[in-house]
Amino acid sequence: MEINKELVGAINDQLNFELYSAFIYLSMGTWFEEQNLNGMAHWMEVQYQEEFAHAMRFYRHLTERGARVVMKQIAAPKTDWESAYEVFADAYHHETVVTGRIYKIGDIADRLGDRSTQSMLNWFYNEQTEEEANTMGIRDKLKLISDSIPALLLLDTELGARPPAGPIPAESTVP
Ligand code: FEO
Repeated sequence: MEINKELVGAINDQLNFELYSAFIYLSMGTWFEEQNLNGMAHWMEVQYQEEFAHAMRFYRHLTERGARVVMKQIAAPKTDWESAYEVFADAYHHETVVTGRIYKIGDIADRLGDRSTQSMLNWFYNEQTEEEANTMGIRDKLKLISDSIPALLLLDTELGARPPAGPIPAESTVP
């Protein structure tokens, strides 16, 4: 089934938005480096890699369906925050925005009866649940920690143990 142009446009926009997400997390990472919170910086670098892999899933889907990908200008991300809590609050908010965007692509695919795109999006629905839960959980721990430096350093160590992102998927629908 030939992929519809409206759907190509929406997926292409999301592909570019995932790259914007990667930029955001890298910007957060360098802020954490400056604060000497190297575990949180590491967590953000892994997240940057994950966002790049998300972009590549959309890229693969479009190319697998015979559509052309158009790379677009990526906006400059925010560079300064007041606290680690504020960074993760922003990260959680960003993930809710991403989820809403992906649901809208799902609505278009539903309307067009494009089951191939729906199948590809199923992975993203689960991934967004996980990403929202992760960023919300860290944000909430930082709220509990408040001004406690020892607790902040303990959480930093914990987040520094995040395993590296997996390889870029060769197909858009691999689990
Ligand atoms: Fe690609 Fe964090 O959503």
